[in-house]
Amino acid sequence: MFSHIKEDISVVFERDPAARTRWEILTTYPGVHALLIHRLSHWIWQHRFYWIARLCSHIARWLTGIEIHPGAVIGRRVFIDHGMGVVIGETAVIGNDCTLYHGVTLGGTSWNKGKRHPTLLEGVVIGAGAKVLGPITIGTKAKIGSNAVVVKDVPDEATAVGIPARIVDQDKNRQQDSMAEKIGFSAYAVSDNMNDPMTKVVHTLLAHIERQDAQLQEVMQQLAKLGADVETDAEVGQAFDLNYINKIVD
Ligand SMILES: CC(C)(COP(=O)(O)OP(=O)(O)OC[C@H]1O[C@@H](n2cnc3c(N)ncnc32)[C@H](O)[C@@H]1OP(=O)(O)O)[C@@H](O)C(=O)NCCC(=O)NCCS
Repeated sequence: MFSHIKEDISVVFERDPAARTRWEILTTYPGVHALLIHRLSHWIWQHRFYWIARLCSHIARWLTGIEIHPGAVIGRRVFIDHGMGVVIGETAVIGNDCTLYHGVTLGGTSWNKGKRHPTLLEGVVIGAGAKVLGPITIGTKAKIGSNAVVVKDVPDEATAVGIPARIVDQDKNRQQDSMAEKIGFSAYAVSDNMNDPMTKVVHTLLAHIERQDAQLQEVMQQLAKLGADVETDAEVGQAFDLNYINKIVD
C-alpha cells in the first residue's frame, strides 16, 4: 500500500510542474485522494459489498469532485490532475501511467449491462473536458485533445482532437520534412508552421515537384525498356541531391 502511495506522489512530481513538496501533494491533490479511496472502494466491490463500495466512492466524490465507480479497474501511476468533474464509469479500464485532466468523462453509450465504457491502454493522456464514450479502446500512449468527443478506437500513439474526434495526421509533417530534405529545401526549415500561407504554398509546390519527378522516372524507365538512351534512376536521383549539386558546382 505504501509503495502505491509513494508511486502516486512521484507521478505528480513527474507530470505537474506546480508540485513542490510531498506533503503538499498528499494534502492538496484531489486526484491522489480519489485514487486512494478508489483502491479501497474497488477492494470492497470485489468482495461483493456493493452498497458500501458505492457509498465509499460517493464520499470520495463529495470530497474531491471526482466520481469513480468502484467497479472501474485502474492501473498504477495513474494521475488525475485537478480532477473536478471527472467521471469514470463502472466498466472502464485505465492502464498504467495514464493521465486525465479535469472534466474528463469515460462514459457509456448504452443502458445495457456488460462492457460499455472505454479501455485506456498504457500511457494515455486525456485533455481537460474530453469525453471518451462507449466500449472503445484508446491505444498505448495515445493523446486525446481537450474537449474532444471520442466515440471510436484510437490507435497507439495517435492524437485525436475535435468533435467527433479525428486523428491528427502525424505522418504529414514527417513526410513533408523528408520530401524537403530530399530536394534540398530542409535548410529553410519550412515544414513546421503549417498555418503560414507561404509555408503552405511551398509545400504544395514541393509535393507537385515530387509527383512530377516520380512520373518522369516512370516515363524514362519505359523509354529505356524500349531501347532509348536515357538517364538511369540513379542519375535522376542524383540530380535532386543537394550534395551532388554542390559537388558539381565546386
Ligand atoms: C491534442 C494535444 C495533446 C496536442 O497534441 P499534438 O500531437 O502535440 O498535436 P499538435 O499540437 O501538433 O496539434 C495538431 C493539430 O490538432 C489541433 N489541436 C490540438 N489540440 C486541439 C484541441 N484540443 N481541439 C481541437 N484541435 C486541436 C492543432 O490545431 C493542430 O491542427 P492542424 O494540424 O490543423 O494545425 C493538446 O493540444 C491537448 O489538447 N492537450 C491537453 C492539455 C490539457 O488538457 N491541459 C489541461 C491542463 S490544466
